[in-house]
Amino acid sequence: MEVVIMAGPAEVGDFAAGRIAELVSTRPEAVLGVATGSSPLETYRSLAARRDAGLDLSRVSAFALDEYVGIRHDHPESYHAVIDREVVQPLGLDPARVHVPDGLADDLDAACEDYEAQIAAAGGVDLQLLGIGENGHIGFNEPTSSLSSRTRVKTLAPSTREANARFFDSAEEVPLHCLTQGLGTILDARRALLVAQGASKARAIAEIVEGPVSSRWPGSVLQLHRRATVVVDEAAASRLQ
Ligand code: F6R
Repeated sequence: MEVVIMAGPAEVGDFAAGRIAELVSTRPEAVLGVATGSSPLETYRSLAARRDAGLDLSRVSAFALDEYVGIRHDHPESYHAVIDREVVQPLGLDPARVHVPDGLADDLDAACEDYEAQIAAAGGVDLQLLGIGENGHIGFNEPTSSLSSRTRVKTLAPSTREANARFFDSAEEVPLHCLTQGLGTILDARRALLVAQGASKARAIAEIVEGPVSSRWPGSVLQLHRRATVVVDEAAASRLQ
């Protein structure tokens, strides 16, 4: 696992955007795995600036990591809406090439299987961008998730619902369930790039980088990946030995 320590959040985003830009420059039809939440926002901002400077992302495909169950796609905090607002529009992606799991499907298990099939049909993910929860989750693979799990329905941990309440009017409004790519799905990406900023992520970063590979800290599964990079600012790196 490659660990890169940058001064602050903007530098983390710039470094991660640089890696993505490098990939897209050599492979304009790259397949990206994209995350929501606060962590990748600086990366998207830096990519948008590179787009203004001439980087063409219009042929890139993207697969979101996860989506809430039961929330309308036009709800501003559905990941359909967030991906459109934070990724598709500013980066100039082609909406027809952007995929988000369908948390409104009548048959959620079938929607998960279909999502795996769509990723496979696209030739797999070239680079998966990830954030991390304070409890070590990646995607919404909460602690005790199987290390070989595939896209499926998960129950959000109470601490994750609390953390995400900031995006909603009230904590009760945060959905109870989600669809998420599994840890096995994430490991299939040809490269993984995890970004984390701030002291609140320091424990999770220390556990996934230096602790044992364990479903207690799901992000530790990245130790098994051949090309995983963890980019952190000094605050998020503060508990590394
Ligand atoms: C979001 C996702 C989650 C977040 C994590 C951190 O698609 O998969 O794993 O990356 O919850 O969230 P932030 O970045 O808001 O701290």
